[in-house]
Amino acid sequence: MIDEVMKMKKLYFYSVLLTISMAFLWAGCSDIKENIPVATSSNVHGEGIVKRGAPDHHSVLIKNQKYDMKPCTACHATDYKGGIIGANASCVGCHSQPKGPEACNTCHGSYRNPTIIAPTANGAHNVHLYASVLGKKVNCVECHTVPATYYAAGHIDNPDDPAEIVFGGTLAKKATNGGLIVPVPTYSTANGCANTYCHGTFKSGNLTNTVKWTDKINCGSCHGDPVTGNPLPKLPHIQGAFANNCATCHNTVKYDAATVSWTVDSLHLHIDGKLRSFGTDKDF
Ligand code: HEC
Ligand code: HEC
Ligand code: HEC
Ligand code: HEC
Ligand code: HEC
Ligand code: HEC
Repeated sequence: MIDEVMKMKKLYFYSVLLTISMAFLWAGCSDIKENIPVATSSNVHGEGIVKRGAPDHHSVLIKNQKYDMKPCTACHATDYKGGIIGANASCVGCHSQPKGPEACNTCHGSYRNPTIIAPTANGAHNVHLYASVLGKKVNCVECHTVPATYYAAGHIDNPDDPAEIVFGGTLAKKATNGGLIVPVPTYSTANGCANTYCHGTFKSGNLTNTVKWTDKINCGSCHGDPVTGNPLPKLPHIQGAFANNCATCHNTVKYDAATVSWTVDSLHLHIDGKLRSFGTDKDF
């Protein structure tokens, strides 16, 4: 019994000792931490270097030098871990993904979510890439040359200009009607997207349809009647009241008479480059 009490007392004594020495250690550390930055930061960076929204926040510095981070890595080391300046100047403590600050979601997309790398605040990235209700998810390469690495040619050459649109995939250029309709897609910020398979340049589609990046579109936009939203494709597609219920012959969509609205039933089968009819996929 007494042995037990002694043991407890000893344990208590050591834990107090440990707490005290930890406190000293911590105080020592925080002294060091406070001292080094004061000595160097006054020379190198302003106070706002890591204060979000500050005019001298490092994201502003990087933007001002047209997204060239090489002048930064001269001091911070090419692996962004601080090099000879030490851990105080490491970027990867905050930018902790494998590519550090060069991760694709650092500057566009979601800073918090590495799977979202295209900007979603304005325009139609969200509906093409992350929250489609109309069709198959579109790959970046359909509309942009995707840089393999941050400094790949073509990526940040002209950061002040609008992003470059290059139709590098196969979907936007997909030929139909036995090779008679061959879309040659074009894009400009002012006029939007024209001559794409995706938005109407296909058999019985709305061949001259154009869409701007900020437009809202309905069912009739790419095939059918853009004003009423009726999706029934133009000739040579069969016409008439009985043809209005697409689902009879194409099981990719559903009509809800109560809400008078169409929804796409099988997202991965609509706007995928193949016609889904009578249960099979084919070129058309
Ligand atoms: C001349 C060398 C030098 C250059 C060039 C330089 N830095 Fe620094 N940077 C430092 C030093 C030294 C520190 C650590 C001391 C301090 O806090 O100022 C630091 C600290 C930082 C911090 C704060 C790190 C932290 O954990 O608080 C950030 C962010 C930063 N630098 C970003 C940049 C960016 C972005 C560039 C390029 C636009 C850049 N630096 C260019 C030397 C440099
Ligand atoms: C203390 C944490 C922290 C450190 C250290 C840090 N960053 Fe950042 N960085 C951030 C945060 C947070 C943002 C997002 C700012 C915002 O969205 O307002 C950011 C944004 C950026 C951006 C985006 C710029 C843009 O236009 O959107 C780049 C590039 C960047 N940091 C590079 C660096 C580099 C290079 C270093 C090291 C030299 C570094 N960061 C160190 C926290 C940090
Ligand atoms: C340090 C910031 C930064 C990082 C990191 C970054 N980008 Fe960019 N990215 C930009 C800027 C700036 C633009 C030009 C935006 C504009 O033109 O309005 C851009 C444009 C793009 C475009 C549009 C096409 C173009 O080149 O105009 C794509 C696609 C793209 N980036 C993909 C990526 C990928 C993939 C990665 C990762 C390998 C990446 N980015 C990393 C800053 C960055
Ligand atoms: C359906 C076509 C399409 C797809 C797919 C697409 N983009 Fe874009 N992207 C655009 C258009 C259009 C713009 C706006 C160009 C303009 O300013 O006129 C744009 C702009 C951008 C910009 C510059 C944004 C800005 O605010 O200046 C970046 C960065 C970008 N895209 C990255 C990506 C990445 C990364 C992907 C894939 C994850 C992607 N995009 C997929 C069409 C697309
Ligand atoms: C009575 C059956 C039937 C109905 C109902 C029907 N389609 Fe079709 N659709 C066809 C047939 C047959 C083809 C020719 C392709 C094939 O060989 O399967 C076709 C082809 C298409 C094509 C490819 C272009 C073409 O002309 O070949 C599209 C797009 C299409 N249908 C959309 C629709 C939409 C949207 C609706 C509803 C508004 C609809 N269809 C209703 C039978 C139907
Ligand atoms: C962005 C352009 C676009 C819009 C908007 C659009 N479609 Fe389509 N639709 C297509 C294309 C392209 C095809 C050709 C076949 C393919 O690639 O899936 C198609 C084909 C179809 C087909 C034939 C079966 C199939 O999936 O292949 C039906 C049915 C159809 N669409 C119904 C609808 C309905 C209903 C809506 C509204 C909810 C709608 N479409 C909105 C582009 C569009």
